[in-house]
Amino acid sequence: MSTISQPISAGDASATRGESQASPKVSNPPVLSVRNIEVIYDHVILVLRGVSLDVPKGGIVALLGGNGAGKSTTLKSISTILGAERGQVTKGSIEFNGQRIDQLTPGDLVNMGMVQVMEGRHCFGHLTVEENLLTGAYTRILSKAELAMALERVYQYFPRLKVRRQSLSGYTSGGEQQMTAIGRAMMAKPNMLLLDEPSMGLAPQIVAEIFEIVRDLNQKEGVSILLAEQNTNVALKYADYGYILESGRIMMDGPAAELANNPDVKEFYLGLAGDGRKSFRDMKSYRRRKRWL
Ligand SMILES: Nc1ncnc2c1ncn2[C@@H]1O[C@H](COP(=O)(O)OP(=O)(O)O)[C@@H](O)[C@H]1O
Ligand SMILES: [Mg+2]
Repeated sequence: MSTISQPISAGDASATRGESQASPKVSNPPVLSVRNIEVIYDHVILVLRGVSLDVPKGGIVALLGGNGAGKSTTLKSISTILGAERGQVTKGSIEFNGQRIDQLTPGDLVNMGMVQVMEGRHCFGHLTVEENLLTGAYTRILSKAELAMALERVYQYFPRLKVRRQSLSGYTSGGEQQMTAIGRAMMAKPNMLLLDEPSMGLAPQIVAEIFEIVRDLNQKEGVSILLAEQNTNVALKYADYGYILESGRIMMDGPAAELANNPDVKEFYLGLAGDGRKSFRDMKSYRRRKRWL
């Protein structure tokens, strides 16, 4: 089905991206490679149109775009949970650690070290914070002592959760629920985290707190991170590299600092546009690059 007969190697792909100005991590070999995927919901609704992206080992990559751009669909394609929503990857390929994963189950991926934190947090409101965290370890067979150690590790990153560990999640704040969701993912000992809009609905100070912890996790444990965000500003502050998605297509990509300074990105995504905001696609300076084809 794939339109690409020969996926180009990461070296070739990165050569098109002004690597010299990128953070050193960007030049690491990719742990995750998405190549020209097309996604269709309900057999007819075409949502992703040839999306390609790389996450270098140990990197933080931001997938940016407005509501409905296709960010969640991209993450769900990677974690192979699209089927549950009657979606299907109809073209392209996805590789994790050099292995095609499109035919694997979400459980296989968790065993390989890839864990997704879904949009909207999804904590079990009637369970305590600690019980929620423990549900994240269900794929691992751990002794009581190992479970206690795994919990302690989460509490080191999220001291707030330790304080709230006996509270019912349903009664904790939005920020604490997001922390619980990320902490639960950590219980599976991931080497790759997919985070879907961790900033959604949270106050700026809490968003900063969460992103600092995510960066810590990345730096101290080498966890590679792909995060989908509408909050371009904060995402580019913490990411090494970013992709901008609009209507199911990657419109632009580059090192985070370059994107943050790009006049078009500033105008359309960093809240500096006046009234009459146009689509990114309509920009005079916009040139769609045919990449990896
Ligand atoms: N299960 C589904 N069935 C049909 N269309 C869907 C489904 N999920 C998402 N879509 C559509 O796909 C597009 C992309 O959605 P999504 O990936 O959730 O975007 P984002 O996460 O960037 O807001 C939207 O137009 C949305 O309406
Ligand atoms: Mg979404």
